[in-house]
Amino acid sequence: MKQFTSVKDIPDLKKAVATAFEIKKNRFAWQHLGKNKTMVLIFFNSSLRTRLSTQKAALNLGMNAMVLNVGEDGWQMESELGVVMDGDKPEHLLEAIPVIGRYCDVIGVRAFAKFKSREDDYSEIILNQFIKYAGVPVVSMEGATRHPLQSYADLVTIEEFKTKERPKVVLTWAPHPRALPQAVANSFVEWMRETDYDLVVTHPEGYELAPQFMGDLKVEYDQKKAFEGADFIYAKNWSSYTSYGSILSKDLAWTVDEAKMALTDNAKFMHCLPVRRNVIVSDGVLDSPLSIVVEQAANREITAQAVLKMMLENL
Ligand code: CP
Repeated sequence: MKQFTSVKDIPDLKKAVATAFEIKKNRFAWQHLGKNKTMVLIFFNSSLRTRLSTQKAALNLGMNAMVLNVGEDGWQMESELGVVMDGDKPEHLLEAIPVIGRYCDVIGVRAFAKFKSREDDYSEIILNQFIKYAGVPVVSMEGATRHPLQSYADLVTIEEFKTKERPKVVLTWAPHPRALPQAVANSFVEWMRETDYDLVVTHPEGYELAPQFMGDLKVEYDQKKAFEGADFIYAKNWSSYTSYGSILSKDLAWTVDEAKMALTDNAKFMHCLPVRRNVIVSDGVLDSPLSIVVEQAANREITAQAVLKMMLENL
């Protein structure tokens, strides 16, 4: 595997899930693969889980891991092509990326949507520059449009907790005070559509996800109806794709609470974290045995390791 930016980069999804469970049994069994190999993790945006889980995954495989927070412990970086660099960014990605590539064997990049232009965000300018100029494999640690490391962990978590062959999995929009990217929701839908789960997406009107992710999947605009008989509730906020980056609603009637969870078939509650308590989800749900958000986050280490393992085996 030369890059990991979407589910399309996984050659065999069933095998990838099996690999994750194998790693979970003994995560230190492949230390020989990473001996004398280095991963650099580049963060243009904040992180807790992705940073620690990916770094831990690299260490589990015997790799060295170095972290660079752009703009904090590195130079501010310009990404625009043909720009006159007379502003506050002294370094261009065109030099920085191949230089970083010389110091390592794998690069992880986190670069969120900037919300200045939908076209720019959806063309993944920064991630694609890394893929083009790094000279080493690149792992997306969340781009502008997808969060594949998260979705892989989400899939493994559902496989771990499901009690039915074909569970009903509901992705529900929930309110948030700030405009968030669509990346987690896009990616979750993309990965779930590769399974045979009964996938339902529910959100207020105006929050339709991009057609390239939704395909022929229909939206259920009635959240309560969507919850009926569900086995997994995956809550996430995202800003509008059509009215790009806008907050169209902060309606707390969309918060996931105990009454809505009672409509489900004892569904497990999932969220990628960080989560806003009593905005996205009530304390009562998050603190109940139905919540598997910590187990879900723990699986980030396992699936990051699975991705790095696949890469190292092909170096
Ligand atoms: N879910 C997730 O990616 O968490 P962080 O933003 O803390 O990395």
